[in-house]
Amino acid sequence: MTSTPAWPAISGIAYGGDYTPEQWPRDVWLEDVALMREAGVNLVSVGIFSWALLETSEGVFDFAWLDELIDLLHENGIAVDLGTPTASPPAWFFANHPDARVQTRDGVVMGFGARGMASHSSPAYREAIVRIASALAERYGEHPAVVLWHVHNEYGVPVGEDYSDQSVRAFRLWLQEKYGSLDALNSAWGTTFWGQHYGEWDHVGAPAAAPSVVNPSQRLDFARFTDHQLRACFVAERDAIRAHAAQPITTNFMANQSWTTDMWAWAREVDIVSDDHYLWAADPEGEIGLAIAADLSRSVGGGKPWILMEHSTSAVNWQPRNIAKRPGEMARNSLSHVARGADAILFFQWRASRFGAEKFHSAMIPHAGTGSRLWREVVELGSSLGRLDELVGSRVVADVAILWDFESFWAQDLEWRPSEDVTHAERVRAFYERLWRDGITVDFALPGQDLSAYKLVVAPAQYMLSTADADNLNAYVAQGGTLLVSFFSAIVDERDAVHEGGFVAPLTPALGIRVEEFLPLREGATCGVRWRESDTLIADVWAEDLVVEDAEVVATYLDGPGAGKAAITRKRHGEGHGWYVSTRLDAAGLGTVAAAVYRDAGVAPSGLPEGVEVVMRRSEDAEFAVIVNHTDEIVRIPASGTELITATSVAAEVEVAAGGFAVIRSSERGTRGVVADPH
Ligand code: GAL
Repeated sequence: MTSTPAWPAISGIAYGGDYTPEQWPRDVWLEDVALMREAGVNLVSVGIFSWALLETSEGVFDFAWLDELIDLLHENGIAVDLGTPTASPPAWFFANHPDARVQTRDGVVMGFGARGMASHSSPAYREAIVRIASALAERYGEHPAVVLWHVHNEYGVPVGEDYSDQSVRAFRLWLQEKYGSLDALNSAWGTTFWGQHYGEWDHVGAPAAAPSVVNPSQRLDFARFTDHQLRACFVAERDAIRAHAAQPITTNFMANQSWTTDMWAWAREVDIVSDDHYLWAADPEGEIGLAIAADLSRSVGGGKPWILMEHSTSAVNWQPRNIAKRPGEMARNSLSHVARGADAILFFQWRASRFGAEKFHSAMIPHAGTGSRLWREVVELGSSLGRLDELVGSRVVADVAILWDFESFWAQDLEWRPSEDVTHAERVRAFYERLWRDGITVDFALPGQDLSAYKLVVAPAQYMLSTADADNLNAYVAQGGTLLVSFFSAIVDERDAVHEGGFVAPLTPALGIRVEEFLPLREGATCGVRWRESDTLIADVWAEDLVVEDAEVVATYLDGPGAGKAAITRKRHGEGHGWYVSTRLDAAGLGTVAAAVYRDAGVAPSGLPEGVEVVMRRSEDAEFAVIVNHTDEIVRIPASGTELITATSVAAEVEVAAGGFAVIRSSERGTRGVVADPH
């Protein structure tokens, strides 16, 4: 067998979406492929929910319709991302294996008629997924249309944790493997608390719903176990496919929706990272959440190009209020993903379903048909993306990293924390948003990884931090990096036990402070912070009793529970600087602090109006600026080179329409791109 290519065999940016022709008669298939050609579609994902049609009863396969479909797509020059249908086992599977159903934390055994009902710890399920994945790979592994494998669909949703008997048994085995002895387990979980001590392995269970709060260390381990079980299913399918097929293999992540899987660990198992992204309609600035998800997708894959496996042309159907995208928004969203490293823009789904739970979900062909604005925009987007071939394979440039550690988030967001107003997602968004508004491109990073390439590292919510990872951050600063740490970081070790020496103690070398006590604020309360003896910044949610051992006090609490105490500190440590912010500043306050931190780090904001997104992508011989204008005004941006979508040359300035976008190949290689440095 030949080696696995790094990217599906498609030229240019991949464009298309999930395709479910099994919901339509054959004459529609013919219309579909004609319309796909019209729209410039070159890749579709098929078979994702087709298990019942492909394996009609246990071990009995019917591939005739899929043969016909894949041949039809191939004849029309459309490549196939072939799904394994294991997110939706057939009725016969549950009839034959009733104990393979997933059970919720509250003890409810899931019924049939939806998807995601199977227990990932069920031996029967494992056997069945390998059987169907192998059969598909054997049949289509050498089909020239198939350029990519799409295993399963969105591991971890709709149900991640499984409390079935099969899962509990597997959890015990996983714990035995991890801890070796019950003594080690008792010690790691701190079971002397509330009399949880275990004398026999058989008594150890999953952290099911209980009258009060269940041991957080146990819950953290169960989250790790859940991630492990899901990943083991992926690996089993992947290896079954690999035995017969050489194309790259992926599974679609959900960077902004479900954090039940550790994307860093999963990215090591897939050949290409792919992500599904849906805007949160309740968020008026969804483009910022989109950018977070896109940057995370790129970062977990080590900066390599990634696939936007699904997004929507317009409204979804599963939020409380499903807001339609306005003219131009779909293309802007797509270009933002491209800006942040996606080389494939795919949708859920090609043609809107007439029946089923998703009939109100938008699609590339809406219910209104091809006479619609939406279809015209789909065709136009295909044509724009078709002019960006040169971009393929280029890499995003970022000088700043934000720490993103799934295990820490799993631990932080459990019950009985000092304030329910503090969540990991809120802190990440606040710091990311500041950088986004300042036009600074960000990678996400793990606290233990090599951070030396970054001028600035931000720890917005690093609640759980091992001493080894803390040492890595201290060394990063000593060697010249700038570290910005937000409150409620470095609180517990990897067992969710508070660090000896107190809160934040592992980062004392870099920060020069300790935290004696948390001083959360009442709901709605605010406090003032005096910044550098002149400005007053506004804060809420949180304050601290900070003990300054060896740091400059940059800001002090004016009032509130921390009145008179240090609020923000800065320490010179070795060649670098460690900043600590002990409260939740409003956007303006965070802006003031960020400006000072940028100066220490040598990082410059873009100087563009807020809402104008510019991201640089670099290849071996060219540099590109992808510009997306989210504002209602025309913007003029200093640039020289060629605008690729209109194929026009740009001499000194490019004009980007309100709500428009542009992609410039810069004529000045090695500059920091097209944007003039305002400083
Ligand atoms: C995704 C899922 C798709 C479809 C889509 C609707 O999470 O993978 O199958 O359900 O949501 O937005």
